[in-house]
Amino acid sequence: MKPVADTTNFPAYTQEQPPVVLTSELRKVYRTGFFLNQKIISLKSCSLTVYKGETFGLLGQNGAGKTTLLKLLLNIMRPTSGRGLVLGKPLGDRTVKEHIGYLPENPYFYDYLTGWEFIQLVAGLFQIPAKVQRQRIPQLLELVGLSQADARNKQMRRYSKGMLQRVGMAQALINDPEVVFLDEPMSGLDPVGRLQMREAILSLKAAGKTIFFNSHILSEVEQICDRIAILAQGELICSGSLNELLGTYNTYHVKGQGGDWEILQKWIPNLEFVSHGYWQGELQGDAYDFLASLNLMGGQIISMNLSRLSLEEFFMQQIQKYKIIG
Ligand SMILES: Nc1ncnc2c1ncn2[C@@H]1O[C@H](COP(=O)(O)OP(=O)(O)OP(=O)(O)O)[C@@H](O)[C@H]1O
Ligand SMILES: [Mg+2]
Repeated sequence: MKPVADTTNFPAYTQEQPPVVLTSELRKVYRTGFFLNQKIISLKSCSLTVYKGETFGLLGQNGAGKTTLLKLLLNIMRPTSGRGLVLGKPLGDRTVKEHIGYLPENPYFYDYLTGWEFIQLVAGLFQIPAKVQRQRIPQLLELVGLSQADARNKQMRRYSKGMLQRVGMAQALINDPEVVFLDEPMSGLDPVGRLQMREAILSLKAAGKTIFFNSHILSEVEQICDRIAILAQGELICSGSLNELLGTYNTYHVKGQGGDWEILQKWIPNLEFVSHGYWQGELQGDAYDFLASLNLMGGQIISMNLSRLSLEEFFMQQIQKYKIIG
């Protein structure tokens, strides 16, 4: 493992390549009230790592601190304490901006511009040459599923929420960023739009981009993400790959035939009889030992499938656990 120069005091990372996002005990306290004497602790002590090429999903209930964390990473706000690196540079380093894309949670668009004009405006801010713009804008429109006719001819005040979301995604990608931050990218999209957004994210991933996104739509996260983290009331309560997290609770659903019912019940507490000597249930214990034992009993295995928790079930368990312990 080869540490990068400026990661002193950051948590150790495990992969060869330096992470794209690395934070150490980031904390954000908002001050509100007339005398700024009320404190809202929005993020408590957030240390996380996102690697190159990963699709990383940040989950949490409303008000958990997801947008706050994104804003800190993008230097839209300064942390109260803690440190962070994006693409190896400290938070606030301006040179990073040209390599990142951002879709805000509630993007503000200029109502009287067309989608095309708005994307051109953003492209201008990145100093992208007109020739490249003419090539890239139609490609992006196709990627996000917005027709060229709508983009060219309609002012954005006439766009639906889903159309605005698509313009937001297109402008986030105009600079061909290395890392894309998306705050609720599926918000306001119909099922076809969600599918297009999912495909767009997957094609970015296939192109080697790193995607960091906030979402409430756990079924989408489960299909897209390599790793996730869950925030609860500003606290990072877990993070890891979907396999690590959902696999922690893995059991096998087994179906078989024959064997000794009493012994089987020790292995499969919820054993149920199906028909013609067939039985099924969730295996508790080591799968290899069970198969050996079944063999000795003269039983047969028909099928054995991992019964993995859905992300929604895992999320609910974690939130519940946090509320009980926290
Ligand atoms: N500008 C602000 N001033 C004061 N408090 C704020 C500000 N922005 C956010 N908060 C508070 O910080 C907490 C976290 O807000 P944040 O927007 O990060 O949550 P979130 O996880 O993105 O929620 P959602 O899922 O609803 O988008 C909330 O309690 C919120 O009220
Ligand atoms: Mg938010």
